[in-house]
Amino acid sequence: MRFTWKRWTICTISVLLIFYKTTDIGRSEAHQKTGLTGNSRARSTRLMANGSDTPFGNGLSDLTDLGGEWKANATLVTMIRKDILRFLDAERDVSIIKSSFKPGDTIRYVLDRRRTFNVSHTLHSLLPEVSPLKNKMFKTCAVVGNSGILLKSGCGKEINNHDFVIRCNLAPLNDFADDVGLRSDFTTMNPSVIQRVYKSLRDETEQENFILRLQQLNNSVLWIPAFMVKGSERHVEIVNELILKHKLKVRMAYPSLRFIHAVRRYWLANKINIKRPTTGLLMYTMATRFCDEIYLYGFWPFPKDANGNPVKYHYYDTLKYRYFSSAGPHRMPLEFNTLKRLHNKGALKLTTSKCTYT
Ligand SMILES: *[C@@H]1O[C@H](CO)[C@@H](O)[C@H](O)[C@H]1NC(C)=O
Ligand SMILES: *[C@@H]1O[C@H](CO)[C@@H](O)[C@H](O)[C@H]1NC(C)=O
Ligand SMILES: *[C@@H]1O[C@H](CO)[C@@H](O)[C@H](O)[C@H]1NC(C)=O
Ligand SMILES: *[C@@H]1O[C@H](CO)[C@@H](O)[C@H](O)[C@H]1NC(C)=O
Repeated sequence: MRFTWKRWTICTISVLLIFYKTTDIGRSEAHQKTGLTGNSRARSTRLMANGSDTPFGNGLSDLTDLGGEWKANATLVTMIRKDILRFLDAERDVSIIKSSFKPGDTIRYVLDRRRTFNVSHTLHSLLPEVSPLKNKMFKTCAVVGNSGILLKSGCGKEINNHDFVIRCNLAPLNDFADDVGLRSDFTTMNPSVIQRVYKSLRDETEQENFILRLQQLNNSVLWIPAFMVKGSERHVEIVNELILKHKLKVRMAYPSLRFIHAVRRYWLANKINIKRPTTGLLMYTMATRFCDEIYLYGFWPFPKDANGNPVKYHYYDTLKYRYFSSAGPHRMPLEFNTLKRLHNKGALKLTTSKCTYT
């Protein structure tokens, strides 16, 4: 009798322990997902009331209506900067730096933690000594997305006139200067561009084209998210070797291993559930740290414009994109709706029509 009782007690305690452990795990997972403690949740500015993924009940015209007169709200810009700083220190996280690694060190891929790669001498020699954005502040910045909405916009002059111009994915400029401008201070390049646009740099023509494009950067920053997933390390290595071999004047940056997670956590905390932020959203989030006014161009994740005319996915090629498909990694319409809300509050300015700058 006594023996059974003892067993029963042990059993109960075990069950209780298991229960306690599981709820604990559940709780910490929930916290990891939102990246929040109860305290910071309360302090979150709740800029975006609705994180719903389908806020398009009112059709496209609702999305294109950017509310007439736009006015910057400096108070709100400062609030957002502070809020984002709790998740992302963009000055530091914009790039890993030389002193953090040595050749031969092993890095785990950001989105595939089981896989690793080794820091090569080439990569290490190109790492910046300090953050390429250290102590930078700008009055106005442009973040230029690559949507075909830019074609015939005449926005080139206006874009060139900002103090700091961020561009995405090494998009071509020369043939489109009237609409997209030429000034570049910070250019991103996903490693996939090497494969898709420059045919893996296998022949000399491609290499020459690529070198010409990099020369155009004119000693500005080239930002390569090189450590996301396995598969492109060879391409990154070839790029790095070309830069060294031809002594190209570019300042390299490779986002820190926590950059994308930090950005995601900020938006999640504001109830915007984004699986994989687009480069455009990454750049806006980063720019809040350095820019008093942020102007977005070439953001338009819809196949048609406000008048029903077709809009190319990229202004410079014929790639197609299914904006509303849940198969892809991005949620562009959700991102756009969020940015539009911020536009209406004066936190940023979205330009989706012709520019009138003279
Ligand atoms: C948020 O969404 C709910 C239901 O989807 C709606 O009733 C509410 O008005 C929305 N709030 C805002 C601020 O858009
Ligand atoms: C600017 O934004 C803040 C924070 O959202 C708000 O309290 C304030 O009323 C806004 N100012 C103007 C002039 O709209
Ligand atoms: C990284 O280096 C270690 C030891 O130098 C080696 O065993 C490993 O195979 C390397 N990994 C890759 C992906 O090159
Ligand atoms: C290159 O950069 C320098 C210094 O920032 C600038 O003065 C010059 O105008 C730039 N040249 C071109 C062709 O953009």
